[in-house]
Amino acid sequence: MKLDRLGDFSRTHRNGELRLSHAGQKVRLLGWCKRVRNLGSLVFLDLRDRWGLVQLVANETEVSPDLLEKLKAVRSEFVLGAEGLVSERESKNPNMPTGEIEVRLSDLKIFNTAQTPPIPVDDSPEANEDLRLKHRFLDLRRDSLQRNMILRSQAASLIRNYFQRNDFVEFETPILGKSTPEGARDYLVPSRVHPGEFYALPQSPQLYKQLLQVSGFERYIQICRCFRDEDLRADRQPEFTQVDVEMSFVRQEDVQAMIEGLMVELSALIGKTVVAPFPRLPYKDAMEWYGSDKPDLRCELKIQDVTSLFDKSEFGLFRAAADSQGKSRVRALFFPGEKAGAYSRKQLDELQEVAKQLGAGGLPYAKWGKEGFASSFKKFVDAEGEVAIKTRLGVSSEGLAIFAVGPDDQTSRVLGELRLRLAKALGLIDESKFAFLWVVDFPLLEWSEEDKRFVACHHPFTSPHPDDLELLETDPGKCRAVAYDIVLNGYEVGGGSIRIHDAETQSKMFRAIGIDEDEAKSKFGFLLSALAFGAPPHGGLALGLDRLVMLLCNCNNIREVIAFPKTAQARCLMTEAPSPVDPKQLRELKIQADRS
Ligand code: AMO
Repeated sequence: MKLDRLGDFSRTHRNGELRLSHAGQKVRLLGWCKRVRNLGSLVFLDLRDRWGLVQLVANETEVSPDLLEKLKAVRSEFVLGAEGLVSERESKNPNMPTGEIEVRLSDLKIFNTAQTPPIPVDDSPEANEDLRLKHRFLDLRRDSLQRNMILRSQAASLIRNYFQRNDFVEFETPILGKSTPEGARDYLVPSRVHPGEFYALPQSPQLYKQLLQVSGFERYIQICRCFRDEDLRADRQPEFTQVDVEMSFVRQEDVQAMIEGLMVELSALIGKTVVAPFPRLPYKDAMEWYGSDKPDLRCELKIQDVTSLFDKSEFGLFRAAADSQGKSRVRALFFPGEKAGAYSRKQLDELQEVAKQLGAGGLPYAKWGKEGFASSFKKFVDAEGEVAIKTRLGVSSEGLAIFAVGPDDQTSRVLGELRLRLAKALGLIDESKFAFLWVVDFPLLEWSEEDKRFVACHHPFTSPHPDDLELLETDPGKCRAVAYDIVLNGYEVGGGSIRIHDAETQSKMFRAIGIDEDEAKSKFGFLLSALAFGAPPHGGLALGLDRLVMLLCNCNNIREVIAFPKTAQARCLMTEAPSPVDPKQLRELKIQADRS
């Protein structure tokens, strides 16, 4: 097919903007053919550009045979220019913003043809995700992805604007740098000029932003790419974007207030009103009530400790917990409502399977429904016992209680996850809400069984809680941190802390996590040196931009808001990265690949 040249053909209007008020105007439009319908004497064509869709029409009796022939050769996704008269439609389409008009074609340019797309370019039905990722450039033509990308760009621009208004300085810190410990593995880049030596891609710009406080910039912002070689999930990518913030002379509340202001504006971008300040919840309470350090507060149900109800029980499992002096506890969650009270045997068996996968031995339950009281441990519960359970759990009518018994980390895992699953299944989550909260007072350190030493929960530059400073040397596991996470609808969308700003405390912290003086000097000498030259008190936080935009877009898969994402196996299916490289490149780098 002979293609037309673009020449001086330019659009007079964007497709989505045409309305009845344009009727009678001659317009020139550009875009892609969404579909053509050939009805014999009439040919309809939907033309799509970034701003919308408009219907073109050609009537055999009105257009030249040449134009008609050209039009009939057009297929989906051909790239076109159209000229015509805007006219009122006979049969209007109220579901389409341009549905009151059509453009009566007088000229058509075919700038390019297109093969039949391997995936549908509209939103339904959705193709297999691997196929979509392989042809991502086509997938990105779909309305939903176009909307997501545009919202992402608007969010990034709002964020830049917000921080600029608040006197922050935007920086670019090195991508080729030295490893900063954030808990994941580094991506390494070999140096050709220094054989055997490697740069690390940043897991975050943590140390650079702290050094910029030592340099006196006071308010730092960077929207930066971070790289982490870690196990991937639906809300994690090997490379992702952080909105990285650091401020001098601040307390935790100052950082939180600055971020809350931003969240109010970002929520407004999608028409949601949120009210600051957001609730603050100590880590301990989050785990106790919700079994999670990132609770979804769109559901209000809380886990309850019911151990003491069973201290005289004949039900051995629960009684053992009651006798264990806190090593093991019986914890329960009550889901109110008829639907919960009517949970069937089969549904309960399915829940039990999930509980087992999460490490529970089983899933004892008690329910109150149309047929009265039923329980997996009913034979151990007399009428008085039932009343005691009901009173403790606040049962006033029908509903389902599930129980978990064991050490806290296990019961939290099981009940935390089932709280979400069941609340969703039972419609107990208010999907219209944007529920922000701060989880605060995280532990500073946690014991690593694998390494047989304490490791930093956030990162080793986080300040111990001022009330717990002594514990750092006497009982490190009990020391709290001045660290905070911001949570939205059950996702950790950001985390930060007040930092250690004196060399002595920093050295103590390194010792607490088993980094001796020599290692501290060789790995972090520059930081210890900077802290000795007048580092101001400082703190900050980093938001996960991808996660945040995912929630703004009302998606539950981070790949839907990243133009060219990687799969859960960290591959790019379109470019086929990672891939073997030319042996010559490896020789230059003095590297031997072992692909076994
Ligand atoms: P942290 O490790 O908590 O803190 O990261 C901050 C936020 O980044 C997001 N995030 C991710 N998003 C997508 N894919 C990933 N693999 C991924 N990993 C993290 C999360 C998280 O809350 N330097 C500190 C911040 C600070 O202390 O200021 C840091 O990186 O939303």
